[in-house]
Amino acid sequence: MTLRPVTPLLAPSILSADFARLGEALRLLEQAGGCTVHVDVMDGRFVPNLTIGMPVVASLRKETKLPLDCHLMIVEPLKFAAEFVQAGADWVSVHQEADPHLHRTLAAIRAAGAQAGVVLNPATPVETLTDLVGDFDFALLMSVNPGFGGQSFIPRTLDKVQRLDALRTERQTPFLIQVDGGVGLDNAQALVRAGADVLVAGHAVFKASDPLRAIRELLSEMKQGRESIGLESRPNG
Ligand code: DX5
Ligand code: ZN
Repeated sequence: MTLRPVTPLLAPSILSADFARLGEALRLLEQAGGCTVHVDVMDGRFVPNLTIGMPVVASLRKETKLPLDCHLMIVEPLKFAAEFVQAGADWVSVHQEADPHLHRTLAAIRAAGAQAGVVLNPATPVETLTDLVGDFDFALLMSVNPGFGGQSFIPRTLDKVQRLDALRTERQTPFLIQVDGGVGLDNAQALVRAGADVLVAGHAVFKASDPLRAIRELLSEMKQGRESIGLESRPNG
């Protein structure tokens, strides 16, 4: 039995959007359908870059009903995870490498009322999740080293997606598989076939000459990937 959701999602990363025009970026994703809003939070410590924090999430929350997916690339994520939920995040993910108390942090995110996700860097094996299955709602596999948009996809991620899909099937425990970094038209179908349900895309959407068309093409690739392995998609997915 497949444990995959009926609606695959695209999560455009606003890291690649114009920060002075985030409202316009939200309108674009609303118009396209099938999207969540991927928000990359970086602290200059866990990753070598700084981006945005809770106040921006709170402002986004006032502007849209789309799910806000906050990817926390920060040390000691337990300190801030619940605050992101209070600011309006619907999904909050934290890095396995940043937190020796993941079980506690994931429980705190769920208790605050959001979907809890665990993120693995390219060098972290999916097998590190074996004893956490059931404690997270989604797993995010990084297909680049986190910190910047516009990097090249690391092909080995496809194998990690397959192994993670096998893990949820073996355990008969549903969770979403999300992939982040270097995702585009050249790999979206293969990722979905391998087991990915949610694809993050920054440059492929916001640096495209026609971002709305780019979203539609990516969603169409995802749909084709699902159909090629006998999975249906709901409209808009
Ligand atoms: C990288 C971020 C990504 C990034 C993806 O650390 O987590 O979400 O914005 O950007 P692209 O799709 O351009 O690789
Ligand atoms: Zn991200």
